[in-house]
Amino acid sequence: MATATLPEQATAGDTFPINGTDFIEFYVGNARQAAHYYVSAFGFNIVAYRGPETGVRDRASYLLQQDKIRFVLTTAIRPDLSAEAKVIADHVYRHGDGVRDLALWVDDARDAYSKAVERGAESVHEPRVMRDDDGEIVIAAIKTYGETIHSLVERKNYRGLFMPGFRPMTPLYQPPSVGLKYVDHCVGNVELGKMNVWVDFYATVMGFRNLLTFDDKTISTEYSSLMSKVMANGNDRIKFPINEPAAGKKKSQIDEYLDFYSGPGVQHMALATDDIIGTVNKLRDRGVQFLSGVPGAYYTELQDRVGKIDEPVEELAKLGVLVDRDPDGYLLQIFTKPVEDRPTVFYEIIQRKGAKSFGAGNFKALFQAIEREQELRGNT
Ligand code: FE2
Repeated sequence: MATATLPEQATAGDTFPINGTDFIEFYVGNARQAAHYYVSAFGFNIVAYRGPETGVRDRASYLLQQDKIRFVLTTAIRPDLSAEAKVIADHVYRHGDGVRDLALWVDDARDAYSKAVERGAESVHEPRVMRDDDGEIVIAAIKTYGETIHSLVERKNYRGLFMPGFRPMTPLYQPPSVGLKYVDHCVGNVELGKMNVWVDFYATVMGFRNLLTFDDKTISTEYSSLMSKVMANGNDRIKFPINEPAAGKKKSQIDEYLDFYSGPGVQHMALATDDIIGTVNKLRDRGVQFLSGVPGAYYTELQDRVGKIDEPVEELAKLGVLVDRDPDGYLLQIFTKPVEDRPTVFYEIIQRKGAKSFGAGNFKALFQAIEREQELRGNT
């Protein structure tokens, strides 16, 4: 993990230790087809499954993996059979395909849950123990913004692939990885005036610190703006920027998200690679669409702005990869278009070469690209 430095000193503030992102679970309308999309387009492999064939009557879930990244895609197949399946179907009705669970890998789920609730977290469910021949998983869950939750997953007594209930799967179709390694950060969009509420939640409940703040002057174009604060845990493996809309001449991109997601939720997940040029070329070849239209001047001025970089600028320009520098180094990043019909969830592909920040120097070019897309959708 590139950013895991000084863990002893840095974890001092954490309410409970967090080892990293355990998995990200999406509730979707059709998990079988969504899984195929993430396999064929994003280079994941389907490694496990839970559904009617494994004794679960009301829903189906696919576990997708690429290096350290684990996505679970879940759909309701009989929302009439259980309250749990109805929650999934209702979530899809309101939000479209979206993130339900940013699950965190903890040492002790019972301890983490009781401390979080003591500090004001709202419970989704108390610690549950799930057992099979490979041992046991303890899992509890607390609420965060919108209908998003954080499962707290303890797996120190489990030797299996993922968790009890999932059956390993080896599909015939296994395209090669595109080089995505781990989840770098996950961004939430919340309503106007609510950013600080959720910043306080992460500070008070989880003991996270405010790593960076962007006000509406940092992040603005002529038309739309937003405010953002990045909350991080002690070892920096968990980074949660929280965005809220700010007033502009036209509707903020965050307002557009809130309208189409019917409230707060996860806006984008940044997935890290060691070779952004290779990864983005592979993603493009497989049909992933990226925001485009970065002005040519961006690249002619790049060297002056960020200094010497290892990558050929003409390659970056061809792909539309953006670059930014901070005191620790530089980073390369690019953003996909939304991966569904609603203009909600999208991905960032990021390569860090020392930099610990989030690309503030690119916000203007990026937001102008987003505004052009918003305009095409008629949502300005
Ligand atoms: Fe990001």
